[in-house]
Amino acid sequence: MTHTEEDLLRVVYFSYQTYDTDREMMAWEIDKILEKSQFNNGRFNVTGALIFNSGVFGQVLEGPIDAVEETFERIQMDERHDHITVLDTSRITERSFPRWSMGFIGSDSVCAELFGEIGSKTAFDISRLSGQQIFETLHALTLKNEISDRAA
Ligand SMILES: Cc1cc2nc3c(=O)[nH]c(=O)nc-3n(C[C@H](O)[C@H](O)[C@H](O)COP(=O)(O)O)c2cc1C
Repeated sequence: MTHTEEDLLRVVYFSYQTYDTDREMMAWEIDKILEKSQFNNGRFNVTGALIFNSGVFGQVLEGPIDAVEETFERIQMDERHDHITVLDTSRITERSFPRWSMGFIGSDSVCAELFGEIGSKTAFDISRLSGQQIFETLHALTLKNEISDRAA
């Protein structure tokens, strides 16, 4: 059976950066992740957004079920992060990041604003957000154009 655009899956997770590095090296590493993600996701019709702050990644992936599952399996094997916690897997009928093969949010000012709103509850820690909070935050930032396709 071929899937229609209506058979979509969304996965939201967070994970921890595995190694200590300085900001510049991390920006370089994230750029490599983004470049690879945008290339692969473009081929497999996967879209989404990635946020990184204080050693924690949060990511939303959306697209055809098989493509998202395969992509997420590769991501889970990546040694650049670990302790991956899936917060949400949902069947969806519409994409929330249609224009983003993988958008990125990592600027301090955006994170400060983001955590300004929910910081007191989360102690500035992405890993303490719910799947819905990560999803809504990233989605809101795409609407405000505070998302980029590069880390540096
Ligand atoms: C936090 C994080 C997010 C990632 N997101 C994606 C992604 O959205 N799509 C993707 O193809 N690879 C992503 N990657 C990279 C994959 O883990 C893996 O290195 C890559 O898919 C391998 O692709 P290749 O087999 O074409 O070399 C991510 C890696 C990390 C650490």
